[in-house]
Amino acid sequence: MPKIDPTPLFHPISPGTPRPVRFAFDGVGVSARTGDTILAAILAAGLPCGTSEFDGAARAGFCLMGSCQDCTMWDERGRRLRGCMTEVTDGQRLRSRPYDDET
Ligand code: FES
Repeated sequence: MPKIDPTPLFHPISPGTPRPVRFAFDGVGVSARTGDTILAAILAAGLPCGTSEFDGAARAGFCLMGSCQDCTMWDERGRRLRGCMTEVTDGQRLRSRPYDDET
């Protein structure tokens, strides 16, 4: 998966050292911190959260507050979720497309 930018705009600002967690997004291992949203962790890793259905361009979420659905993704049980509103958990396996979408 191509990275969006080698210098991510997202970086932690909270003090302390929250427990690290790891999860996979489209098969890529991502490191995060307890309390991060999935989208924040993906953007901090310099990854896109999906691709445009129109031209295949990388997507990075739009509103970051649960309104636009641009960060829609699926967990390994096929549940649809919003990456900007969902806290990351250790060992999660997520996809930018539903499991039944082979396009
Ligand atoms: S970025 Fe808009 S709903 Fe998540």
